[in-house]
Amino acid sequence: MKVISILNYKGGAGKTTTVANLGTALWILGYKVLLIDSDIQGNLTFLMGFDQSCGDATLHDWMIHDGNPPIYERYHGLYYIPVSGDQEFEQKLDKMYHREDVLRDHLEPICQMFDYILIDCSFKAGLTNTNALNASDSLLIPSECASFSMQGMEKLMQDYEDIRRRMNPKLEIEGVLLTKYQHNTRFSRQMTAWLETQPRYEGKVFQTRIRKNIRFDESPIESKSVFERDVKANGAEDYLALAEEITCAKRPDQWPYIPLNAWLEEHPDDEGVKLQIEELNKKKR
Ligand SMILES: Nc1ncnc2c1ncn2[C@@H]1O[C@H](COP(=O)(O)OP(=O)(O)OP(=O)(O)O)[C@@H](O)[C@H]1O
Ligand SMILES: [Mg+2]
Repeated sequence: MKVISILNYKGGAGKTTTVANLGTALWILGYKVLLIDSDIQGNLTFLMGFDQSCGDATLHDWMIHDGNPPIYERYHGLYYIPVSGDQEFEQKLDKMYHREDVLRDHLEPICQMFDYILIDCSFKAGLTNTNALNASDSLLIPSECASFSMQGMEKLMQDYEDIRRRMNPKLEIEGVLLTKYQHNTRFSRQMTAWLETQPRYEGKVFQTRIRKNIRFDESPIESKSVFERDVKANGAEDYLALAEEITCAKRPDQWPYIPLNAWLEEHPDDEGVKLQIEELNKKKR
């Protein structure tokens, strides 16, 4: 079992995209996965198709009031905990006893039910992110291949060291993940070369890079990951390769059918997904 926080203080670096798609990829490889949305923006919660206004329990209810863990099933083996949009959550958390340990203590009794728990963090430093890092085994840093993307990395590293020293000595860096990568731009190549020569990140930059892909913008609107939106897209290949790099596991034969069939079970009228399955069948013949 491993808990991984996905965090970068740079907004729009690809944190939520990574949680949704890496999580789905790990599930395709056969792992039992829980995704936790800890960002009050609720982008992952939206992507999972959860309605924040429906009154069903969320991470915040659980952390503040206890009760049963609000775990919802995406597919058999892939689960999520949604967040609420409660702007006062951090103030409430601040008043709690052992306020930095709340998430860790809540996860403790359930974590053995999963192989991987991925936490989608906010770009804002604060008590919620401290809780996430304190509850985690490792930190995965998505970093956009664009100007200013290194902004926030220094502060992130300071917080990482601080949390390791004060409360969670086992916290490691899972890796830096280059996102929105474009092989044909000098900037993407320069940034990769620079990162790989920084002593702090040496050996920590994932071999797999997530290429720029329009499908990542399109899929959340339909509450899909890229695997259900377009299983042949670069984005699906890249996140599956990342899951393989992290786990050293190999993808099963016929893996594209796994997310499409699971989605179709829940949404039997989805013509787009039916068409993708037909195309896969044609190629097989
Ligand atoms: N590899 C990619 N190629 C193209 N677009 C991408 C890629 N990864 C993410 N995006 C897009 O970039 C935007 C920001 O991504 P995302 O929401 O995952 O970032 P974030 O770090 O979670 O942002 P925030 O800091 O606001 O929480 C989204 O519109 C997403 O669809
Ligand atoms: Mg996000």
